[in-house]
Amino acid sequence: MGRLKSKVAVVTGAGSGIGRATALRFAEEEATVICADINIETAEAVSEEINKRGGSSRAFYVDVSREESVKQFVEEIKSQYSNVHVLFNNAGIDTAGGKLHEYSVELWDRIMDVDLRGTFLVSKYLIPLMLHQGASIINCSSVSGLAADFNRSGYNAAKGGVTNLTRTMAIDYARDGIRVNAIAPGTIDTPLIEKILGNDEGAKFRNVYEWVDPMGRLGKPEEVAGVVLFLASDDSSYVTGECITIDGGHMAYTWPGVMLNSRP
Ligand SMILES: NC(=O)c1ccc[n+]([C@@H]2O[C@H](COP(=O)([O-])OP(=O)(O)OC[C@H]3O[C@@H](n4cnc5c(N)ncnc54)[C@H](O)[C@@H]3O)[C@@H](O)[C@H]2O)c1
Repeated sequence: MGRLKSKVAVVTGAGSGIGRATALRFAEEEATVICADINIETAEAVSEEINKRGGSSRAFYVDVSREESVKQFVEEIKSQYSNVHVLFNNAGIDTAGGKLHEYSVELWDRIMDVDLRGTFLVSKYLIPLMLHQGASIINCSSVSGLAADFNRSGYNAAKGGVTNLTRTMAIDYARDGIRVNAIAPGTIDTPLIEKILGNDEGAKFRNVYEWVDPMGRLGKPEEVAGVVLFLASDDSSYVTGECITIDGGHMAYTWPGVMLNSRP
């Protein structure tokens, strides 16, 4: 308890899944939590939950993909808080779109806008409130930002961009008191995954995934939140420019087929 005492922490996409679990975890560690989401109702519900448990939180609307919306969001924060100490750039979307020649330009642009441009925009406008006070930014990449999935060129490119943008940010701000790291979750059981896996094909995928995955299961949002908390807190004070994989060992082996044949 108290690892984020007196800190103001912004979580984008706080209304659901990994963002929600992280907002709740930050609050347990006594941060003032700003829950931001394009879905204001869900962000408000998370803020209310935090406040009911005796924490401190406010909900804000933001569409991370739109510059005007991000500017307005940051102006509202500025009027109420003088500094921000933690930023979790978590808001994101993921949809398969076919092979590259089939992939629609609209889907490509939307995924880039939310997942990559959104990380850039929120960081760009919040960083002035974070300078020279021991702040931490955590960008949400993915194992899909480290390796490829079938039919997901937009998501793979956007998350690959987030992984490397993290390194640029880390070295640019290392002497300005801001650490910048990324996380790369594997398959985490959230509404986003439910949307992807929630049909018959999805159920088959889930079964295969659980068989192939070294730990034999999907991850939980709370298991991601714990790593984000580590990166947000002073426990990671000499860690910057890193991308931590949270995938139950999925990326640790060469080829799933080998795993299937010689599984202990
Ligand atoms: N769930 C997984 O398996 C997994 C794996 C790797 C990476 N990720 C990443 O983790 C992050 C969170 O994913 P999740 O699984 O919790 O998803 P989720 O769908 O449960 O939550 C995403 C949240 O982001 C919000 N959001 C979407 N577009 C937005 C926008 N333009 N502006 C502001 N908010 C917006 C949504 O309203 C939602 O509350 C995403 O960046 C995702 O790519 C998820």
